[in-house]
Amino acid sequence: LEIYLNGLAGVVPSHPMTFAELERRAADSLPPWIWSYVAGGAGDEHTQNANATAFRRWGLYPRMFVGAAERDTGVDLCGVQLPSPLMMAPVGVVGLCSQDRHGDLATAEAAARTGVPMIASTLSQDPMEEVAARFGDTPGFFQLYTPTDRELAASLVRRAEAAGFKGIVITLDTWVTGWRPRDLATANFPQLRGHCLANYTCDPVFQERVGKDASPEAVVAHWAGIFGNPLTWDDLPWLRSLTDLPLIVKGVCHADDARRAADGGVDGIYVSNHGGRQANGGIPALECLPDVAAATDLPIIFDSGVRSGSDAVKALALGATTVAIGRPYVYGLALGGVEGLVHVLRTMLAEADLLMAVDGYPSLADLTPAALKDLRA
Ligand code: FNR
Repeated sequence: LEIYLNGLAGVVPSHPMTFAELERRAADSLPPWIWSYVAGGAGDEHTQNANATAFRRWGLYPRMFVGAAERDTGVDLCGVQLPSPLMMAPVGVVGLCSQDRHGDLATAEAAARTGVPMIASTLSQDPMEEVAARFGDTPGFFQLYTPTDRELAASLVRRAEAAGFKGIVITLDTWVTGWRPRDLATANFPQLRGHCLANYTCDPVFQERVGKDASPEAVVAHWAGIFGNPLTWDDLPWLRSLTDLPLIVKGVCHADDARRAADGGVDGIYVSNHGGRQANGGIPALECLPDVAAATDLPIIFDSGVRSGSDAVKALALGATTVAIGRPYVYGLALGGVEGLVHVLRTMLAEADLLMAVDGYPSLADLTPAALKDLRA
């Protein structure tokens, strides 16, 4: 309505109204090496593309005489109250995607303005304390890439607790980087160029290891040596012991893994294949969601391939508690800074809300598998 009313005054939106246009314009706005890193995926990007097309398998039944004049979209995620089920997935290079190179701070500001939580990546251009200071009343989550140095891991988590983050997301699928031809072709990896290491360089344990006045080369070399921890189930009790905050494990796509993680005391499961960036030839993340949802009563965050409000609604119906987006919000940030990012979040929320209104689903509880028709069946 806001947009149409503005139209009466001759004002049309300057930001894109479709994902296709958002992607096209974002590509023009970023330097090619950053664009390759953000938009690219593993292998020939089959899994990345399949993540998005997987949503077409499902159709939402329109239900009539429901009178869904008011929609209830509030959600409880591991005891944290959120105004809507939308979140911003952790994106390591978001810091580079704004003109002033402070995209992490801009994302935090967008979270404060919209109530859409940011899951702040370990790999940020600004220290987590400065990011968290911009959240306002919106809860924030910290994503941990677990270093092999256990003391450093504990230090990062302690800092996240002290900074006021409300939960810790541990990413399991990226202890080593996948085969990404676009980045291989540009021979580029941002962190090896010293970008997005702010959470390490200001960390007391990291400083102890490399020395406070270490050269940029020494910082990168040390970071590269400790970044990826090939965790096993034996590490889960230790990870659990790091914090009393809600602990959510990201990258879980198999029902057995979800069950085992639940038995190991985690508070939430994050179904994701990293937006198809890590492994190609896999299963679209959405296809994994129903099995994981059937395997556990824990809250579930879902991401990978969500491009619209209707995609989000379908993921919620298939068992997600909340739905996260990665590239769409980064593209909004690249294109229009905080305003561009807020636009992406607001349009996605508005589309989802309108769909729930038109198709007769007044609350998230009404979005169950029964709301969907399997168009392949
Ligand atoms: C990511 N992702 C990611 N995940 C994570 O746990 N920590 C991180 O630092 C990053 N970094 C990162 C950088 C870039 C450029 C992208 C695009 C993605 C993965 C992210 O959290 C999420 O799983 C996917 O982006 C979701 O898929 P879509 O929405 O991009 O299709």
